[in-house]
Amino acid sequence: MSRIAYVNGRYVPLREAEVHIEDRGYQFADGVYEVMGFVGGRLVDEGPHLDRLDRSLRELSIAWPMARRALQLVMRELIRRNTLADGMLYLQITRGVARREHAFPAGVTPSLVMTVRRARPVPADVRAKGAAVVTIPDIRWQRCDIKSVSLLPNVLGKQIARQGGAYEAWMVDADGRVTEGTSTNAWIVTKDGELVTRNLENAILSGITRAAVLHLAVGAGLKVGERPFTVAEAKAAREAFLTSTTSYVLPVVSIDGQKIADGRPGQVTLALHHAYLQAMACHSDDRRKDGYRWGNQIPRSARDNGARGDNGAGAPK
Ligand SMILES: Cc1ncc(COP(=O)(O)O)c(C=O)c1O
Repeated sequence: MSRIAYVNGRYVPLREAEVHIEDRGYQFADGVYEVMGFVGGRLVDEGPHLDRLDRSLRELSIAWPMARRALQLVMRELIRRNTLADGMLYLQITRGVARREHAFPAGVTPSLVMTVRRARPVPADVRAKGAAVVTIPDIRWQRCDIKSVSLLPNVLGKQIARQGGAYEAWMVDADGRVTEGTSTNAWIVTKDGELVTRNLENAILSGITRAAVLHLAVGAGLKVGERPFTVAEAKAAREAFLTSTTSYVLPVVSIDGQKIADGRPGQVTLALHHAYLQAMACHSDDRRKDGYRWGNQIPRSARDNGARGDNGAGAPK
């Protein structure tokens, strides 16, 4: 069966789905997007994703193309029409179609496009053995907190990774500190057992998976720090991993060709991945809150690797 897309009020076969060449998304990358997973037809972390979408839109002064509730109905209908139970939904909103001129045009209607597809899992060998990461300078703009469709530096970075035989590129700021991956958030477990990921600020995207994993980690009593870490610290770490909607929690076993610890996926990482999968299976936002308690299923041995800390990290969104 042909895939069905949603384009500005119409459900159309994917091959017939088109946008205007003067759409500002096409001309200026003047738009935002979200990628959400769905399991058994239910969207995972739908509320947090729509909250982040709302924030991205507000930061760019783009209006919602329809009420949030209506958007939720369209998302469900698109999943239903594609007869998919498990997969990924892509949603893009741009400022709309107008004669090409940089300043915001008056009176335009935002464009809304959505597609769904089967989930494309991380390659089995990367999932089993862990991912290689390379580091590159972060050449992006200073508002990486906005989930903008302007992804050229991320595209170039991912290509450098692939050409170097790596799964991901971690971007590094002018002070030698890791910001995030080209499409993932970056984490380490230090020699002292502290779980570290960069604090939320304009330099990184507030990953929804990042937030979920922080909840699980804090719930399990891990010592958590939201702060920048250097490439040197990452290379000397006990464990490293990355998170995203499409990769979940993925071990990182080498950085710039240098093995992390013994070069195998770490225990805390695997425990968090397991806990995340279980929490995701709860998939509705209400039950998700219960799912966070599943963090207690992280084995004691993994938890004891990190001294218990009460640093208030990972505040719920
Ligand atoms: C730059 C960047 N950082 C982090 C993430 C992870 O975010 P999430 O967990 O919401 O998928 C993404 C996802 O696309 C991203 O593009």
